[in-house]
Amino acid sequence: MKQMIIEGNHELKGTIEIGGAKNSAVALIPASILAKGKSIIHNVPNISDRDALIDILELLNCKIELEGDTLKIDSTNLTNKLIGASLSNRLRASYYFMGALLGREKYVEIHIPGGCNIGSRPIDIHIDGFKALGAKITTEKDKFILQADELIGTDIYLRFQSVGATINLMLASTLATGTTVIHNAAMEAEIENIAEYLNNMGAKITGAGTSEITIVGVKELHEAEISVLPDRIEAGTYLILGALCGDNLCIKNIIPNHLEALTSKLKEMGVNFTINKDNIIVNKTKNLKPINIKTLVYPGFPTDIGQPMSVLLTQCHGTSLFEETIWENRMGHVPSLNKMGANISVSGTTAIIEGPTPLTGTEVVATDLRGGAALVIAGLFASGTTKITDVEHILRGYENIASKLTKVGAKISIIEI
Ligand code: EPU
Repeated sequence: MKQMIIEGNHELKGTIEIGGAKNSAVALIPASILAKGKSIIHNVPNISDRDALIDILELLNCKIELEGDTLKIDSTNLTNKLIGASLSNRLRASYYFMGALLGREKYVEIHIPGGCNIGSRPIDIHIDGFKALGAKITTEKDKFILQADELIGTDIYLRFQSVGATINLMLASTLATGTTVIHNAAMEAEIENIAEYLNNMGAKITGAGTSEITIVGVKELHEAEISVLPDRIEAGTYLILGALCGDNLCIKNIIPNHLEALTSKLKEMGVNFTINKDNIIVNKTKNLKPINIKTLVYPGFPTDIGQPMSVLLTQCHGTSLFEETIWENRMGHVPSLNKMGANISVSGTTAIIEGPTPLTGTEVVATDLRGGAALVIAGLFASGTTKITDVEHILRGYENIASKLTKVGAKISIIEI
């Protein structure tokens, strides 16, 4: 088990380089098996979710080369096998092998995916979409079997703009016969990144990034290259940190448009920052105004930034609200923040945050990825020493977090306990 130890209350200056987006990389990697041959993904973040997906690819007899942040995946000799619980449980995104294997092999056996404990996380919208394409689906305890003689393009209306279902249905339908139209599709920038990769392979996808995506099925796909787009959630996390501890802290390698939902809120609070072409410079700011945030599907305020943002809200002068609308259980970090001195009460999926309150280091637990990131921010701002256990949650999605923060002046280390 790993523990993170943070000595707080140091100013952070210099540059943090943002890596490739976790939620794009975790779909691009499984998508690679749709093309027979060696595909190449650049700017892959060094996170444990990447390693879990590589283990699944190796089970499926793909050849993997990883050099720095470039991942080469050769799926020429892919062997279709059951993806067992010990692999599929390690992350949520193992479910992208459903769409990718169904597309390529028309047969998939996989155990239910894992992922953070932030809600019930059903995959019924994915399953209904696969069925609409003509797949037959059976379940045996925790195992799904998906099979089809042929996938046939059709109109699919998603009852919620699910990121995972949108991507999974794009993956499955690229090699279907005829045209698929996904209505009420999720519109995340990551979805455009996946569509670009598939199009580089020879797929015919238009409309990604809008709520209507059209996929004209093709007979086969060829090897291709793609670069993972910058991680807007990693960038947002460090931007929030900069508002508390930054001294001209530069968050570099970002796409400012992708951060607009956050930056407009930071502006409303009075945070001192400057947006440039591919970076933002942020300074710690006093007299922050209280605000209300409500998480929404993209391009609304991202659910994955809500927990980190709640730490900044503890330093506003007055009452702020953080309302989570995507997941039922994104308040796991609140008891730890309160233990550090915050004044947060939770009612259902809304946190009421009274500020400002000084924060003091103590022993806390990361209950999930973004909740863990919130505790890292709190620990770096707090006086004294913060010890965070269950750091594995954080390492699933933030690459080289301790070394990136050390480089800008943080006193932070990760030890085995
Ligand atoms: N939902 C259903 N049925 C489905 C699919 C989703 O009811 O079949 C519900 C979910 O329960 C949830 C909502 O729809 O209430 C949104 O789910 P979505 O499918 O959009 O989420 P996801 O694809 O499972 C991805 C990210 C999450 C991020 C959400 C929303 C990955 C691997 N995960 O999850 O990232 O919160 O989209 O943007 O891409 C994180 O990075 O910390 C994280 C949790």
